[in-house]
Amino acid sequence: MVEDWRISNRVKQIKKSAIHEMTRLSKEIDDVAFLSWAKPTSDTPEHIKKAAIDAIKKGKVGGYSENKGLLELREEISKKLKRDNNIESNPSQIVVTIGAVEGLSAAIMAIIDPGDEVILPSPTYSTHIRQVILASGKPVLVPTIEENYFDLDLDAIRKSITSKTKAIMYCSPSNPTGTVFSEKTLRELADIALENDLMVVTDEAYEYFTYDGHRHFSISSIPEMQKNVVSCFTFTKSYAMTGWRIGYLHADEELIPQISKAHIPFAICATVVSQYAALAALKGSQDCITDFKSHYLSARNLMCKRLDELDSIFDYQKPQGSYLMFPKILLDEGNDSTTFCKKLLKEAKVSTTPGIAFGPTGEKHLRLSFCVTEEMITKAFDRLHRYFK
Ligand SMILES: Cc1ncc(COP(=O)(O)O)c(C=O)c1O
Repeated sequence: MVEDWRISNRVKQIKKSAIHEMTRLSKEIDDVAFLSWAKPTSDTPEHIKKAAIDAIKKGKVGGYSENKGLLELREEISKKLKRDNNIESNPSQIVVTIGAVEGLSAAIMAIIDPGDEVILPSPTYSTHIRQVILASGKPVLVPTIEENYFDLDLDAIRKSITSKTKAIMYCSPSNPTGTVFSEKTLRELADIALENDLMVVTDEAYEYFTYDGHRHFSISSIPEMQKNVVSCFTFTKSYAMTGWRIGYLHADEELIPQISKAHIPFAICATVVSQYAALAALKGSQDCITDFKSHYLSARNLMCKRLDELDSIFDYQKPQGSYLMFPKILLDEGNDSTTFCKKLLKEAKVSTTPGIAFGPTGEKHLRLSFCVTEEMITKAFDRLHRYFK
């Protein structure tokens, strides 16, 4: 293909998203069973929508807010960080962002110089890899331990540190593997970061969705780590607010003006109507989180049961959190996960995501989302059973 001179080398390095590609292909097929989307299927709770409508009617949303976000919202976020994450903060340590993704991008832009290395567990959320590349950094993918629920390999992380390593970036609970890194593991990771003067950038999008006694731990709750962590959160998953594009980050007070220098050119401020909706989400009933969690838990159990019946085709680690899982394909055809998933889509009408989209150790796997109705899981697995038997 002829090189397009108009495009920057940074952007050229970014591969097309397999998730979007599968979505595009899925649209060409009738009556697809979707297991490929990681977005809540429920609608935003009514009281949140109503607060947004009230804010519009009262003429509160026509202008910019403070770049960091509405003070009232940052005050509520600060209370939530203490209550749910054990993170001490004040509102000047918080920036309200356009989803977790913009917060992560701003954090990486503020921290990473060209050529700096960022350690990422592999497989990981592919957006993180792209964010590092866009900042002209170098993603260093360190394989996780698959047979131990894709846990972090701390020895391998230690060995991959060089004089150019600047940061470690991870999501827990994990997209795509459903792993919840334990407090013990994250305390050890914190020691590694402190010994080597490394920043840690966290993506805690699925913080509330953990199962079987696994608990979410925020590395920023370790007092010694205060200066080394940027923690990114979102309303997307907890309150089914994907389209509102609203999240926030927490960091050391001295870092905030620097991160704001990256936030402002991309956003100026987060969408104001969504900030009012987020305020209502934090102040109102938290029942939706409990409801979503109990739905995801039974959906996970159903998916695992149906996968057990296909044990000659897939092997899997039971997800400890999030609403995603990452089965290994036992057939030789799975060596090329993209072709495998495209074939499943065309021939079985089941849409999944090829594991290669999440880093090289993702090959031979596919990602399944159980953030769907139980009917959808049943429909998809009935088709998979017919296809493979
Ligand atoms: C790990 C992870 N982080 C962030 C996001 C996106 O979050 P937001 O909508 O808040 O930008 C997703 C969405 O799937 C995700 O899986």
